[in-house]
Amino acid sequence: MCSDCLLPIVNCLFPNQVSIDKCLSITFAPLIRNDTMYTIKINFEQKGKEPITLSNIEAGDAILEVVLKNDIELHHNCGGVCACTTCHIYVNKGMEHLEEITDKEEDFIDRAVSPRLNSRLGCQSLLLDGGGEVEVTIPDQTQFLGE
Ligand code: FES
Repeated sequence: MCSDCLLPIVNCLFPNQVSIDKCLSITFAPLIRNDTMYTIKINFEQKGKEPITLSNIEAGDAILEVVLKNDIELHHNCGGVCACTTCHIYVNKGMEHLEEITDKEEDFIDRAVSPRLNSRLGCQSLLLDGGGEVEVTIPDQTQFLGE
């Protein structure tokens, strides 16, 4: 029996290896995934960083909050109030799941490093009610100082 999720070892994908929260979410992901949860794939422009997929993310948080809660670095020098550009991200998939961009956000994106058509600010990219798949790319964070 797995000491984390208490399933028989044959049913547990990661026996005795991860915390109970992660273990349950991984083991039961196919069963509990529904239209009220998001799966978010995070790609990194920084060399050597592998993509990460986050499952069972609830609506209501901004992408910045989601990544910070999962110990993924994304600078946010203004504290997440749409007053800098350090939380700049690219949304590769699932833009329709994010709160609509505002004029103020567009103005700041224009000042970001290498803005593109799919640019957003992580602190303003709120996950709308519902669920689905979102994929983002985080620019190289080594270009920023501070937090
Ligand atoms: S953290 Fe400053 S604009 Fe998002």
